[in-house]
Amino acid sequence: MTFLKTPFGLFFFLALAVLTLTVVLKKWHFGLREEEAFGDDAPERNRLLQQLQERHQELKQLYVTSSEFINPHLSVNDSVFYINGEMSAGNTVTNETEIGCEELAGMKAVDFLGSGYTKTVLKVALPQGLFVALKSVNHQGTDMRMCMQDFKDSQSCHKLVSFKLRKEILLLQRLQHPNIVQLKGQCQDSVLVGGITAILEQGMPLQMIQLLQSPWEERFRVCLGLVRLLQYLSQSPLGSVALLDFQPRQFVMVSGELKLTDLDDASIKEPACQEDSDCLLQFPLHNFTHRCSPSRICKGLNEMRNLYNAYRYFFTYLLPHQAPPLLKPLIHQIMNSTGDLKQSINETLIAFEEVLHMYQSGQHLENLPPFITRDYAVLKGMRSVGNMEYRCWPSYNQQGCVLSVHSAREAALICSSHPQCTSFSLSNERTWTGRLLASFRSGFSHLVPDVNSAVYMRRVKASGAML
Ligand SMILES: Nc1ncnc2c1ncn2[C@@H]1O[C@H](COP(=O)(O)OP(=O)(O)O)[C@@H](O)[C@H]1O
Ligand SMILES: *[C@@H]1O[C@H](CO)[C@@H](O)[C@H](O)[C@H]1NC(C)=O
Ligand SMILES: *[C@@H]1O[C@H](CO)[C@@H](O)[C@H](O)[C@H]1NC(C)=O
Ligand SMILES: *[C@@H]1O[C@H](CO)[C@@H](O)[C@H](O)[C@H]1NC(C)=O
Ligand SMILES: *[C@@H]1O[C@H](CO)[C@@H](O)[C@H](O)[C@H]1NC(C)=O
Ligand SMILES: *[C@@H]1O[C@H](CO)[C@@H](O)[C@H](O)[C@H]1NC(C)=O
Ligand SMILES: [Mg+2]
Repeated sequence: MTFLKTPFGLFFFLALAVLTLTVVLKKWHFGLREEEAFGDDAPERNRLLQQLQERHQELKQLYVTSSEFINPHLSVNDSVFYINGEMSAGNTVTNETEIGCEELAGMKAVDFLGSGYTKTVLKVALPQGLFVALKSVNHQGTDMRMCMQDFKDSQSCHKLVSFKLRKEILLLQRLQHPNIVQLKGQCQDSVLVGGITAILEQGMPLQMIQLLQSPWEERFRVCLGLVRLLQYLSQSPLGSVALLDFQPRQFVMVSGELKLTDLDDASIKEPACQEDSDCLLQFPLHNFTHRCSPSRICKGLNEMRNLYNAYRYFFTYLLPHQAPPLLKPLIHQIMNSTGDLKQSINETLIAFEEVLHMYQSGQHLENLPPFITRDYAVLKGMRSVGNMEYRCWPSYNQQGCVLSVHSAREAALICSSHPQCTSFSLSNERTWTGRLLASFRSGFSHLVPDVNSAVYMRRVKASGAML
């Protein structure tokens, strides 16, 4: 009976024994009154056991599905799957360079990063001076509270909620993409850290309000990252993955790049169907039906669900507003086709890459007035000092006016449209798309040599207001 050697097996056995004993005793007391045979909390206990069993099963299934991909010769029975009788989140891809329990022993929590229904995330400084995010079960969270309300068993509830984090760790190991937060390690040693802990690349919680105020280029970057992520998820090593709890708070920002962090509500199942009407996607403002495939599965429904969620939570807020005028038709086309789910994720990604390409190539600027730079005197190899800044929106820099431009010509056009602007400078600083950062000013005290910089001074205007 090796089953009994596992804590879970023993737990199950004991629960069964208690149940059986209860039945026997009650029968002895009350004869054959079946309806009163169970103790007051026995059904509750059963329900908890059933839930634990279900989570265990889900994880096991996921493990097998993903192991087939990574190592076709690995089976559930292999020792790697069970550690001390506990199912491991899977160590087949653990890396020598991974952070584990020992490294965490010297940790210092320096900040609280966030929490949700299930998990808490802390910023931690490792001895080497590296910062990481530690994710563990949120004991004050809704999941834990609801479980305690129902079952009043903190140990089992902790175990139940831990399954979600274990699932997440497994998914993070299998799903690797620039727009998914990187798993740097894990620790399951409850003595050292108190329960299962995921060690993640540290980001900043996504602040939608802040993002709304940032330049279009940065907002486009977030949307493009999301589309690349969804394209990957639509044909991941695990199959087509749906994010059931798709909200901005499930993502973080790492150096301007959007990354998915909350994966415990991901699903790799697509519903079975008899006819098209079984493949229904419901949203508050729009319902969709999908084809029931010949194999009687709503194949592609996960992809559609993700794409519409991307549209309603991200694109509508981030994409159209302040888009470069000549890119607007393309952006509107993207908005229209994703809002009605007329295009697949593949087609959507192609449209996004086209926007990026146009934006980078400056094609959208072709009809700029060609001679605008004649209004400026260029001082190459110079940098201005003692600057008089003015603010503009949406600036890359809070104190002044720093905007992304394709060329000196585009910067000249912007300067000429700002009444305060008397000069601008270009350095070798570039944005993520490779565009230049131009700094606009209303004046400066003097110039110093700087090989990486050029200063453009606006010549006297007809009105005589300048220089
Ligand atoms: N790697 C990370 N870096 C910084 N903050 C994070 C990171 N991962 C998660 N967070 C923050 O912690 C919150 C809770 O994490 P999440 O995985 O979403 O837990 P839950 O499943 O409880 O919703 C997130 O909303 C996010 O703001
Ligand atoms: C795993 O173990 C069970 C019981 O020990 C056995 O019935 C099953 O065939 C094994 N599966 C594989 C794939 O070896
Ligand atoms: C382990 O880490 C190294 C260095 O970061 C990397 O090159 C390698 O691909 C990783 N291996 C696995 C299995 O993740
Ligand atoms: C979506 O379908 C549901 C159930 O069929 C219905 O109640 C709801 O009104 C529909 N919503 C929209 C926006 O069509
Ligand atoms: C897309 O365009 C069509 C035709 O102009 C319009 O009827 C539809 O409402 C638009 N959909 C969205 C989501 O903008
Ligand atoms: C989507 O693109 C990927 C990779 O570019 C390709 O493998 C896949 O077959 C495409 N899917 C569809 C439905 O065309
Ligand atoms: Mg979350």
